[in-house]
Amino acid sequence: MSPAMQESIDIENVIDALSRTGNYLSNQMDITVDQRTRLLKACEKLSSQIMPLRNKIWDLGFKGFETTAIRVAMDMRIFDLAGKSTTKELTPQQISSHAGADPVLALSIGLFTITPQGMYKPGPWVNDLAQGRPLSDMITFIHDVMLPACQKLPEFLSKTGYQNPSDANACPFQYAFETNDHLYTWLSKNPAIYSAFCGLMKAMEQNAICWPDIFDVHERFKVFQGPSPAEPLQLVDVGGGIGHKIQYLKETMPDLVAEFTLQDLPEVLKNVPAGMNADIQPMPHDFFQPQPVKGATVYVLARILHNWPDADCRKILRHTRDAMNDRSTLLIHEGVFTPGAGEVYPLDVVLDMVMMVSCGSMERSESQFRELLASEGLDLVRVWRVKNQEKSQEGVLEVRKKRLD
Ligand SMILES: C[S@@+](CC[C@H](N)C(=O)[O-])C[C@H]1O[C@@H](n2cnc3c(N)ncnc32)[C@H](O)[C@@H]1O
Repeated sequence: MSPAMQESIDIENVIDALSRTGNYLSNQMDITVDQRTRLLKACEKLSSQIMPLRNKIWDLGFKGFETTAIRVAMDMRIFDLAGKSTTKELTPQQISSHAGADPVLALSIGLFTITPQGMYKPGPWVNDLAQGRPLSDMITFIHDVMLPACQKLPEFLSKTGYQNPSDANACPFQYAFETNDHLYTWLSKNPAIYSAFCGLMKAMEQNAICWPDIFDVHERFKVFQGPSPAEPLQLVDVGGGIGHKIQYLKETMPDLVAEFTLQDLPEVLKNVPAGMNADIQPMPHDFFQPQPVKGATVYVLARILHNWPDADCRKILRHTRDAMNDRSTLLIHEGVFTPGAGEVYPLDVVLDMVMMVSCGSMERSESQFRELLASEGLDLVRVWRVKNQEKSQEGVLEVRKKRLD
């Protein structure tokens, strides 16, 4: 932009145009995912270009308070009340009598604005935070488990001489919760919070891209089954949670003839929704034990390996490889960093830190995966990438058993 143009910008006009653009776009339903992603990036860039650094640091400093405010409001069931209200505006008395809480407290947690008539008006996202919704589970899990573990990170690192935490049974999570249990063992002993964790996984699926959208299920499953499939495709989702990924695959490919096995720990399978399809067979299974389903067409490990340090990943891979035959395929869905790919996306950085704090583990690069797989006699055939790579480095690794000849 030339200096002459810079001088001619009228800030008031810019504010007006941006605000009109925002109003227009908020009613625009046919923006593509790609356009939305690029628009958001442009807005983030604009915001970071004009916001003074000092303000950014202030915002960062107070971020944790917002999560806590939402957590308190969830306990007070304010979102359930607001969601039911047809006007979505509440009197102070409604809040007091429903939540047994002081309306001044409700206001001071900053989730309402007061209308000129003295009514409390919650934000538009209120319905997503009502009890039992995946996003309210996400807030519960992050607030109650991840943030306390993260808060202990500075103390933990100063005591361990700033070494990278890499022991799944002795990382900041154990330090914060004064336990020797691995996160998942601890969760098994705390069913209510394990259930919130399962909700978080479901929320992630709604927010992120699911593996059937990255890997070309339509074409590749046909190849796996051969030209005239005599038998249904057998798919085993190892550590598949409450079955949300299989359910998504079935919705994506309603004509797929397949038998699905959903494996996870017994405590998790208790949370499988009652109405789940009859052709999905839940099977309690610990992936550190030999894989009981032999010679399946497809084994899936989605967001599993990033929870475990290398030695544990090798055990999981070994048991899977031992069950595979020469026609079996293993699909691994994870963030797959590409060294030298330039930008690292904020969500990937946060997830990497979450893995370190909670499991002494990490997100891995393509070459780290290649090495891990090769060490257990597995070949990386292809890395399938998210088509729109703006948001994250997620990928699906298509893996085969190494041929011995
Ligand atoms: C990060 S979640 C991923 C869930 C699901 N695959 C997805 O993509 O949403 C990891 C899953 O591994 C399961 N898990 C942890 N330890 C396990 C074990 N020893 N055997 C089987 N499943 C386990 C957890 O219960 C959880 O459902």
